[in-house]
Amino acid sequence: MSPFQHHNVPPHAAVVGLQWGDEGKGKIVDLLTSRFDCIVRYNGGANAGHTVQVGSDRYALHLIPSGILSPGKVNIVGNGVVVDPEKLLDEVEGLRKRGVAIGDNLRISDRAHVVMPYHKEQDAALEELLEKKSGKTGAGQIGTTRRGIGPAYSDKVRRSTALRMGDLLDHALLLRKLETICGLRMAELEALGASVTPLVPRELADRFAAAGERLRPHITDTVYLVHDAMKDGRTVLFEGANACLLDIDHGTFPYVTSSNCSTLGIPAGSGVPGRMIGKVYGIMKAYSTRVGGGPFVTELLDETGERIRKRGREYGTTTGRPRRCGWLDLVAVKYSAMVCGADAIACTLLDVLSGFDELKICVGYRRADGTITDRFIPDAERMHGFTPVYETFAGWERELTTCTDREDLPREAQAYLGFVEQFVGIPVELVSVGPERTQTFESNERFAVAR
Ligand code: GDP
Ligand code: IMO
Ligand code: MG
Repeated sequence: MSPFQHHNVPPHAAVVGLQWGDEGKGKIVDLLTSRFDCIVRYNGGANAGHTVQVGSDRYALHLIPSGILSPGKVNIVGNGVVVDPEKLLDEVEGLRKRGVAIGDNLRISDRAHVVMPYHKEQDAALEELLEKKSGKTGAGQIGTTRRGIGPAYSDKVRRSTALRMGDLLDHALLLRKLETICGLRMAELEALGASVTPLVPRELADRFAAAGERLRPHITDTVYLVHDAMKDGRTVLFEGANACLLDIDHGTFPYVTSSNCSTLGIPAGSGVPGRMIGKVYGIMKAYSTRVGGGPFVTELLDETGERIRKRGREYGTTTGRPRRCGWLDLVAVKYSAMVCGADAIACTLLDVLSGFDELKICVGYRRADGTITDRFIPDAERMHGFTPVYETFAGWERELTTCTDREDLPREAQAYLGFVEQFVGIPVELVSVGPERTQTFESNERFAVAR
């Protein structure tokens, strides 16, 4: 008899970026939220910027899951996230001012690690030091968001200098830990040549215990919370931040972020085994963008790149930096889909590609020695000198922003999506043709927006 028992597919799902971020995850999570009970962030921190547009209202979410805009859903910040408590409070207040109710619908793991002000100073100081050492603007740096992400995860791995959200709820404990941390951190910042404001343990303990008090109603053991919800028959949607090619293990190292942003980060970052996830939506924008340094084989440094940037409004949600733009890289997307176990693609920003005579899709990389590979190599050094091997497609003129199903798209746009499906080997189930909720359709029908 087979050692495997037949299992029904679990009802829980994940949304993950298949490129270098900003694929439109926020928009897709907001849409899918109507089908789930709980939305869980499992990685990253305030480096993420997820935009949700509802009518003419635009919301930029950084730490709070994108399900927060739908009443009656439980939004969970899992243990794998690094939380800047003051930023989180600002985000809560900003949303409340705009009429979004936040109470029991926001839960934060007591084991999520804390991003402290010194982490942000360390992040910036290291970037500046790397720039100085290389002698060139932008060279040698990772190009981080300076949100303290790397230093906060470093402390988590180092253990003795880490703080978790639960620690903010016990002033005496927090003070004791900060007394150890502050002396060490000052020495490290000075070694990096940062102009250091002295770190005073008591001041920091008072300030962050106060933030902890305000967040107390939301802080809980989210691992039991999610498992209890699933046992009660409630469904969970995992919201990835950053994206697969920025994954610390599987991205374009060292030009990556410091967490496992692929779906492989879900088990560790939420306490839910991977086999509980029945469906993975890989989000892919119809072209490529990246913010910060690192390999980008299909980057367009010409007018075409500028045109994509303008049409796609490709400026960072978190830092406002212009995003680097280029043609769709399916070598990269196919690799990400494999690593993330994507079952379907949601193709976003297809509308941006209207008006080009021709479009290109990268199907291979030519190495410096002229040989060609169709495999992604998640290592910046080893990707050095790669150039794209393209397939060329006919473009289309028509604006797509009012299209409501796949058949309604110009023939050339249908062929473009057809090629993606054939190359990656999974279906494009969702197509997005504008930032608004209603500008989305599902295979051959308009997406049912249940609000
Ligand atoms: P995320 O980080 O993956 O959530 O993506 P961002 O919110 O950082 O960036 C995506 C941007 O594209 C946002 O400004 C969205 O409002 C916008 N957007 C999402 N889908 C579409 C689309 O299909 N067409 C257009 N034109 N804009 C879109
Ligand atoms: P969302 O969730 C785009 C990039 C930064 C930088 C590198 C490391 O909105 O898709 P970090 O501050 O994390 O140490 O920076 O990762 N990066 C993102 N780029 N979208 C994001 O998130 C990103 N999060 C991190 O630009 O190159
Ligand atoms: Mg973003």
